[in-house]
Amino acid sequence: MFAERIKNRLLNQHNAALYRKPVKINKRQEKYLFIGNKKVLNFASNDYLGLSVSEKLRRKVSRNFLKYSTSSSSSRLVAGNYSVINQAEKEYARFFGYEDALFFPSGYQANLGILSALFEKGDLLIFDKHMHASSVKGMFLSGADFHGYNHNSMSHLCKWLEKFRENQPAVLTESLFSMDGDFLAVQGFKALKKRFDFFSIVDEAHAFGAVGENGKGIARDAADIGVGTFGKALGLFGAFVLMPAGFKEYFFNFSSPLIYTTSLPEAHAASAIDILEFISQGEKTRKHLRELSSFTKKSLTCEGFCVKGDAHILAIEIGDESRTLEISRKLIGKDIFVLPARYPTVPLHKAILRIGMTALHTEEDVKKIVSSLKDVYGKTEKADR
Ligand SMILES: Cc1ncc(COP(=O)(O)O)c(C=O)c1O
Repeated sequence: MFAERIKNRLLNQHNAALYRKPVKINKRQEKYLFIGNKKVLNFASNDYLGLSVSEKLRRKVSRNFLKYSTSSSSSRLVAGNYSVINQAEKEYARFFGYEDALFFPSGYQANLGILSALFEKGDLLIFDKHMHASSVKGMFLSGADFHGYNHNSMSHLCKWLEKFRENQPAVLTESLFSMDGDFLAVQGFKALKKRFDFFSIVDEAHAFGAVGENGKGIARDAADIGVGTFGKALGLFGAFVLMPAGFKEYFFNFSSPLIYTTSLPEAHAASAIDILEFISQGEKTRKHLRELSSFTKKSLTCEGFCVKGDAHILAIEIGDESRTLEISRKLIGKDIFVLPARYPTVPLHKAILRIGMTALHTEEDVKKIVSSLKDVYGKTEKADR
């Protein structure tokens, strides 16, 4: 029965052009990936500042792994609650302007861990419909009721808040959306927060480190809880949740995804502390990333592409899934790697090419992706007709 189900479901994935198979990457060299015998320019990375390939950071991280053990070998709640982790969390809370912080093994686990612990049956959550899968899963796990509002629509959010005023809903959003690449309408969100006094959780996974003053993201004033990951602009792995005082103690007691998992090792925490220095000194890199991203958007727009994205994540909507796949395959033929994002990562029949800009890219790289896209896009259009 299960074998049959698996076979059928995979067949359906193929037929709908939704089949996923990770590309085999032989190695990575800064902004390049080696796929088969090809060296391709990587526009599918979240290493926005290029930190993960920085030799200076890699040396620091290796020294930390020499100094400490390779594993914490225990859950945080058993024998994994090391001083250096607590010190790092304090420094993250201070840096990002919150009262407390807690590290998780990944951003996915962080969203599961906080949402499933904080909310329960009878609670109401209102969320942006384009929120990341980990938050959606976390809402399901919590048992709370939830309603989505149209992506970044403050008027739709307002309607729900008016309708459910009595239920005191909490609101969940991202600050820089992972697939659309647009910023949360922070001013409108803040005004609604002031008016309805709701509790808010803002996932700043794609913003922390890369945007805002000193890389502190854009939503501090709009968030009660902020979620960040180390695996994107911060160049490491794992995640951190920023929160008011008193919440950490609560999560230690009630967050199953935190209680029953091995904590990140001391070397991770020591490296996280080192990374704060890179982030606070990263203004020049952020400026380059900002300017290059804006140049890319302008160049693509000039060529007639409809490009969404306010910062380093740019999305070109293709719509049809198989065409999006075909374009991305043809781009590999031209030594360019971009993500063809399809359902359920984005809505059905709204497939996009997601271009992830990093500070490692140059204007030459941008010219290359623009001309390659122009060439490939025209050819796939003809093939469609
Ligand atoms: C908005 C958002 N939140 C959370 C995550 C999960 O983070 P991690 O990769 O650390 O699990 C991602 C990553 O894809 C993301 O885009």
